[in-house]
Amino acid sequence: MVQLKTFVCLAQLAALALAVKPNDYQRVPDQEGQYPRLGACPDKHACIFPPTESQFLAGGYFDLRVELHAYDEDTTKPVPSPFTTFKTTVRKNHGSWKDASQYFHASVPPLEQWHFNWTQSIETKYAKQLALDAKPVDVAVTSRVWRKLQFKQPGVYDVKVEYGPKSSYVARYTVVQPTAPKQKAKNVILFISDGTNTGAITAARALARQHTSGKYHDLLSFESFDELGHVITNSVDSLLTDSANSATAYASGHKSSPSALNVYADSSADPLDDPKIETITELIRRRQPGKAIGIVSTAYIQDATPAAFYSHTRQRSVSGEITRQFLHGVPHWTDPVVPDVFLGGGAEYFSGNKSLNGTDFYKEVTKAGYASVFNKKDLTKYNGKDKLFGVFRQGNMDVWFERNLYVNNTVGNKANPDNQGKNDALGSDQPGLQDMTLKALEVLKKRGGNKGFFLMSEAASVDKQMHTFDYSRALADLIELDVTIKKTVEWLKENGEYEDTLIIVTADHSHSFDVYGSVDAQFMRSAKEGDRLGAIGVYENAGFPGYVDEDGDGFPDNWHPEVTLAFGTNNGPAHYEAWQVSANAPRYPSVTDDHGVIVPNPKDMAGNFGHGVLVNNNLPFGNTQGVHSMSDVFLYSHGPGSELFKKTFENWQVFFKMAQALGLGESNQ
Ligand SMILES: *[C@@H]1O[C@H](CO)[C@@H](O)[C@H](O)[C@H]1NC(C)=O
Ligand SMILES: *[C@@H]1O[C@H](CO)[C@@H](O)[C@H](O)[C@H]1NC(C)=O
Ligand SMILES: *[C@@H]1O[C@H](CO)[C@@H](O)[C@H](O)[C@H]1NC(C)=O
Ligand SMILES: *[C@@H]1O[C@H](CO)[C@@H](O)[C@H](O)[C@H]1NC(C)=O
Ligand SMILES: [Zn+2]
Repeated sequence: MVQLKTFVCLAQLAALALAVKPNDYQRVPDQEGQYPRLGACPDKHACIFPPTESQFLAGGYFDLRVELHAYDEDTTKPVPSPFTTFKTTVRKNHGSWKDASQYFHASVPPLEQWHFNWTQSIETKYAKQLALDAKPVDVAVTSRVWRKLQFKQPGVYDVKVEYGPKSSYVARYTVVQPTAPKQKAKNVILFISDGTNTGAITAARALARQHTSGKYHDLLSFESFDELGHVITNSVDSLLTDSANSATAYASGHKSSPSALNVYADSSADPLDDPKIETITELIRRRQPGKAIGIVSTAYIQDATPAAFYSHTRQRSVSGEITRQFLHGVPHWTDPVVPDVFLGGGAEYFSGNKSLNGTDFYKEVTKAGYASVFNKKDLTKYNGKDKLFGVFRQGNMDVWFERNLYVNNTVGNKANPDNQGKNDALGSDQPGLQDMTLKALEVLKKRGGNKGFFLMSEAASVDKQMHTFDYSRALADLIELDVTIKKTVEWLKENGEYEDTLIIVTADHSHSFDVYGSVDAQFMRSAKEGDRLGAIGVYENAGFPGYVDEDGDGFPDNWHPEVTLAFGTNNGPAHYEAWQVSANAPRYPSVTDDHGVIVPNPKDMAGNFGHGVLVNNNLPFGNTQGVHSMSDVFLYSHGPGSELFKKTFENWQVFFKMAQALGLGESNQ
């Protein structure tokens, strides 16, 4: 049934291809279907990356890859010659077609050939589980890739691949050269609250701010910013996005596929040969030398969001290679970014048996001119002018709860950045987002001087704790971001940079998080199992929860009030929910039992928070935590250029708006 549908789609595409004259550009809507042959590749046999509808800054670097796919009754083996002698041509503003290599003054790249298996249907995907006789389709690929190209002039560009007398496919690009706004931004600070939707902002406000007669005394720090925009986050080939491909949109102006960092995903197995696109940090290095660049995250520093600002790979999980790229970049490309400030977790990839080929990257970091710090005390003390490198823990840094309330939960983690496998990285020895961001600003101001700086600062664990339904921990890290932004604004004012700084506060994608009432914790604990849902108050019985912030630090003083929030997301594995704080450790909602079956984590019913209720599974096989959702995200902005960020726009446009605000579009070199 589903397989039949796949072939109908292919037939429709083939009919479309026949109806189109070879020189026409046809804007074909994305097709229905869960198992495309390759993302962003609508033609029956030809693929062009960057895909059609891509936009570039004049002079921005990109790689161009063309693939021909032989896989069906039209392509008997050996692969027919038009597929191996395909012609690639380029034209500008509807002019005459020129051979691609001549057009770009490039040598003809070698023909590459490989095979890949196309999981073409849901039956094939689940063939093993459902004992079906469905096999993937063998696709024979021939390809060429042109590296490091530029379109220097604005305009409309078409790239055509012809394979045989009647078969061709055209991709259309737009090249723009934005002029600087009325007032250029000398500095840009991009705060990314990973996986944060508007529901989470509302909940953080309910926890961290007081109100009288239901009216808030004050809002969160960024809620008074100049502009509020609305960002569409889907991938190039899917409704949903992950953090790699959404950060790629912000960093490079190109929507890509899940897991891809500043490349379009081709079909080859090599995660390092995919066609690259230039990032805003690389452009800053080329066009505004002397401007300082900082990257700060509470995740491991090779994680998708920070990695999007200094690396290129199709596979976000190649953390060893991403670490190497931080210092050494990639071949046939621009110089590596080598940020002036680089702070986060992920120590294990810098030395020891997880580092690439056992390299001691700590030594290389020093050789590259960095001062290194490994704990909060040394970070705070640092007042030099050298580039600053700091990793404070293996893996993700501990969340605000474990760094502040439950430090004892970090005893025994053996996650010390010395990578000896013996010493702990205590929560109290790890800096928070505020410590890292303010130190980054100090160093960036010293290093960037009149040229200014670009800083990306990520509150990573909002997403990580949303995935595992530890909503209190997620919201505490979001409140930490709020306090960080408040202190950032104070710092900018004290240091004379406020008027020259564009501050952006956004998320990369949503979780379907929301609050739908309140919970009486005492009733929940004492009620019999069948009666527990009576603890939830909805509409007028929701009232207000009991969080207070008497010491004025921006965080609730009490995380266990009598009345707390009834919250959840719209998806997950089966799990127990008690709407209570897990004091022993961040929770994990499901576990795999002795028979390999994913079941609710029994700790959530026993140790973590006692009594709760069962919430059922609505995810496909194998998912042990919640997944991202598709709703648009907020983008608050303040300062020069913020007028560019109004209304509704797509995530890739954020790159062009930042580039315009910084005046990065003025050159076409
Ligand atoms: C495709 O799958 C088959 C088994 O079904 C395997 O033998 C083959 O190596 C795979 N090819 C590639 C390119 O991965
Ligand atoms: C790592 O080792 C492999 C295998 O010896 C080698 O092919 C590769 O070039 C090395 N990579 C680096 C970055 O040294
Ligand atoms: C942490 O552990 C130490 C030593 O076991 C204990 O003295 C201290 O009270 C604990 N702190 C908290 C906040 O539980
Ligand atoms: C890697 O190093 C750690 C820390 O020294 C050690 O505990 C672990 O056993 C090592 N793993 C392997 C596979 O060698
Ligand atoms: Zn996520």
